[in-house]
Amino acid sequence: MSQITEIAPDVFKISTFFSEVNIQFNQFLVKDEEPLLYHTGMKGLFPTVSEAVARLIDPTTLRWIGFSHFEADECGALREWQRLAPDATAICGIVSKMVNVDDVVAERPARALKDGEVFVTGKFRFKFLQTPHVPHAWDAGHLFEENCGTLLCSDLFHQNGDVEAITNSEIVGRFKKMLIEYQEGPFANYLPYTTKTERILGRLADLKPKTIAPMHGSTYVGDGKSAILDLAQAMKDVLAGSV
Ligand SMILES: [Fe+2]
Ligand SMILES: [Fe+2]
Repeated sequence: MSQITEIAPDVFKISTFFSEVNIQFNQFLVKDEEPLLYHTGMKGLFPTVSEAVARLIDPTTLRWIGFSHFEADECGALREWQRLAPDATAICGIVSKMVNVDDVVAERPARALKDGEVFVTGKFRFKFLQTPHVPHAWDAGHLFEENCGTLLCSDLFHQNGDVEAITNSEIVGRFKKMLIEYQEGPFANYLPYTTKTERILGRLADLKPKTIAPMHGSTYVGDGKSAILDLAQAMKDVLAGSV
């Protein structure tokens, strides 16, 4: 069964740990006039995630389904959700919509967001940032909730293990450890480090998030700007070859 934790007012983390691969998969349910689920998880997770969402809201009232990029753990259960919730619409970047989502996995057309566009779910305001290849994939983007300062950051800050739901301690050390471990096995080059990575991460740091919510691992509450700048350095150290 998935574990539910409120990581910011009316923002709930739904977390499921897979011991075989030592990794958590987290989704985020935002309770608002127009409820938003960020990440669906893979198709196989749909029964447990939908049961968890049903503990928070009537799942048939879900209105928006957001994600960073086209990948099974981001949007693999989109169709299952859209069959359950008749008004649920995917919300993603233009590249995601046009290149993959509408053709492969959406039950009905996605709503595409432009870089810098803000969409409102009621009391919450989400800014969309187009972040190609950060964390990875051409279509990658991020949503930042402006009122509470919550950054939904997908695979950035990925930490392995069955870690605590929320922490105030730094998480970049765990992220760097994961990167080093993955570089030595079949998951090498999980995240790219390009000439644009530092600038894109700088843009995210300038949002000064108070809460950083990764798909894999603990949510961090604290100085998000410093955390993102530290993460950029860790990526450079491991992925640009200076370690
Ligand atoms: Fe990913
Ligand atoms: Fe992921």
